[in-house]
Amino acid sequence: MPRIRSYRPADWDSFLALDLETGLATLRQSPQEEKDSFAARWAETLKTSWGWTDSGPTKDKSSLLVLEDDDGSFAGHLWMNEEADALSGATRLWVLTVAIVAKYRSRGWGRLLMERAVEEARTRKLGSVGLSVGADNVVARKLYEEMGFEATRLSMFKRIR
Ligand SMILES: CC(C)(COP(=O)(O)OP(=O)(O)OC[C@H]1O[C@@H](n2cnc3c(N)ncnc32)[C@H](O)[C@@H]1OP(=O)(O)O)[C@@H](O)C(=O)NCCC(=O)NCCS
Repeated sequence: MPRIRSYRPADWDSFLALDLETGLATLRQSPQEEKDSFAARWAETLKTSWGWTDSGPTKDKSSLLVLEDDDGSFAGHLWMNEEADALSGATRLWVLTVAIVAKYRSRGWGRLLMERAVEEARTRKLGSVGLSVGADNVVARKLYEEMGFEATRLSMFKRIR
């Protein structure tokens, strides 16, 4: 059975590799220079924007959990924060990243992490859980929809050349 625990300093390399992979997948349709720029900046952005320390993000009410395999191997992570919705003013739990290492996917572990996010929102007495997902990420969208997540607002972009 996998185990969910807090992030530790030794998780950094595995965390960063999986977070980069997830970010790059979201940028799938972006020009190569945007992907390269993201990959080159991400570790530094984590430090400057999220107050990253050896113990993980310290900014706001961030919480970073790690899923580990039976033998203690890093198998995925769930990074959450609280966010005030500009329109309603309500504070919700915001999932910044949820990801499972490729070889552990489709075993129900992503669902396990997302169930933990819902539980975390309840514990924090927040009324909702939100996240942003790539429009073409069918696996993640299917999981969220099965769990009762609904698309409320859609981000749209036009590239100016
Ligand atoms: C999205 C992700 C977290 C899901 O985790 P997972 O452990 O693979 O998914 P689970 O095994 O928990 O499956 C949950 C649901 O996802 C969907 N799913 C999982 N694998 C799938 C596949 N290969 N094809 C289609 N749907 C799939 C199904 O709806 C599944 O529910 P079901 O088993 O009842 O049909 C994982 O695939 C991942 O890390 N992807 C890369 C990173 C990413 O895209 N993160 C989300 C960013 S918003």
